[in-house]
This record gives sequence, structure tokens and C-alpha cells, in this order.
Amino acid sequence: MDYPFADRAAEDERLIAQGRVFDPLTRRVLAEAGLAPGMRVLDLGSGAGNVARLAAERVGEDGSVVGVERDPAAIDLARRRTDAANVEYREGDVRALDGIGDGFDAVIGRLVLMYQPDPVEVLRQAAARLRPGGLLCMHEGDFAYDWACPQTPLWRQIREWVLETLEKAGIEARMAQSLFSSFRAAGLPGPSMLVEAYAAGGSEAPAWGYANVVAGVVPVMEKLGVATEAEVEPATLADRLLAETLAADGCVIGPPLTGAWTTVP
Ligand SMILES: C[S@@+](CC[C@H](N)C(=O)[O-])C[C@H]1O[C@@H](n2cnc3c(N)ncnc32)[C@H](O)[C@@H]1O
Repeated sequence: MDYPFADRAAEDERLIAQGRVFDPLTRRVLAEAGLAPGMRVLDLGSGAGNVARLAAERVGEDGSVVGVERDPAAIDLARRRTDAANVEYREGDVRALDGIGDGFDAVIGRLVLMYQPDPVEVLRQAAARLRPGGLLCMHEGDFAYDWACPQTPLWRQIREWVLETLEKAGIEARMAQSLFSSFRAAGLPGPSMLVEAYAAGGSEAPAWGYANVVAGVVPVMEKLGVATEAEVEPATLADRLLAETLAADGCVIGPPLTGAWTTVP
């Protein structure tokens, strides 16, 4: 199964919104990992450009960022959102990275390994694009962690639907958990790691984030026989989820994201 979010325009809006929750976490991981002014950076699976833009902030005018993404519509949007002269987006497949160049100071990527049939090979390819001593830094999620506390009935139901859909689609919901062993299997030094999640209760609870994910995968859910659009009711889902959380005086927990980074010999 390819990327499961079929409606690309809606997906790019989703990625931009999701950035509000994930970008502060990625910013901290890139800082901890040592992304520094002047570096030449490759961003794998750049989507709407959020991570490339965060990297550009850190490397400054003396550095540069290349985002590689296989979806042309995402590349168009990322280009429209990015006016910095030192950020460019190229169409390509992270499984091969042909023609992307090499000798990069850093290769980074967020929520991209989880979609790859062979993430270890992607890490090998990425490492091969680095100069000696270059930095490889990946940021992946654990989508099987509790989405809300308490797990009220609707939260439990949509989590089950999404996890079943990801499993049937061959997407790794818990890529974060296998980052360390994947780096090792790719022949790399064991990475340093940082795990962090966004969480909030009350009216700030990010129920909308999960509702967006569910709405984005409804066509795939239907195709794989997991749930129908009529059962999911995506138009009202965010409101219903938030209402359950407020009624339970609970909170919503964004998927914990794990940053893992190492330098190649
Ligand atoms: C969940 S999005 C993450 C986008 C971005 N990294 C972010 O965090 O905002 C995953 C992106 O990876 C892209 N992608 C997935 N597999 C790819 C591949 N094999 N080669 C290039 N891009 C890929 C998808 O098209 C999508 O834009």
C-alpha cells in the first residue's frame, strides 16, 4: 500500500495543521542533534515543507536545505510556502535518492520511515548521502500509544479503526520503537534519542489533530473494509471527540515522537 492519505490537497492542509503540534518537538530534536549554522541538509519525505523550514531556521543563510518528496502536488505547495533562497524541493523517492547529490552534512526526516517497506534500507541510502562525520537524524511516531486519557468509547473506537487500517496497509504504527534497532541494522552507531509528546486538556485538547488523521484515511478504511464514512462521520468527529474529553475532564495526548540521531563514521 502506498501513502494512505489519498486526497493530496486535504493531506497537505492536514500536514500544515499537524505542524502546530509537531514542529516544536522537531525543533528541539534538531537542536539536540546538533544541526548547526552553515550545514547542507537533506530532508526525506518533505511533504508540505514543515521540517525543511525548521532546518532552514537552524542552518541559517550560510546553510541550505534540499527536501526530497515523491508527490509533485506536495512539492508545489512546499515551494509556495517557502520563500527562503536556500531551501529547494526535488521530486524523488527516498528509497533510492538517485540524483539528489551527496556529501550532505546532515540527512533528516520526520514521519517518513513508517511508510517504507524497508526502513533499514532507507537509512542505509540516507547515510550514503552524508559526508564522513555527517549527521543522520530521524523523527518518528508511536501511533499506538493512548490517544486520550481517559480512553472514552469514541476515542477507543477511532484508535482501533486507525491502527487496524495502518496494519492492513502495511504501515508501521510504532516506527519510533524500532528506530534504535533500525539504525543498528543499517550498520550505523546506536543513535542518541529523545522522546516527547504534546498533550493538553480542556478546550486546548488537540482532538482536531486525530480527527484530521481519521478523516484523511477514511477512503483507505473503506477500501480495506475497516469502517465506512457513515460510521466515522468525519465532518463532526473533532467536535464529538472533544466533547467526550471535556465531559470526562480528560486530556488528549499527541503521538509521542522519538528523535534518533547519530553521526556516520
Ligand atoms: C506524514 S508525511 C510527513 C511530511 C513531513 N516530513 C512532515 O513531517 O511534515 C510523509 C511524506 O512522505 C512522503 N513519502 C512517503 N514515502 C515516500 C518515498 N518513498 N519517497 C519520497 N517521499 C515519500 C509522502 O508523500 C508524504 O508527503
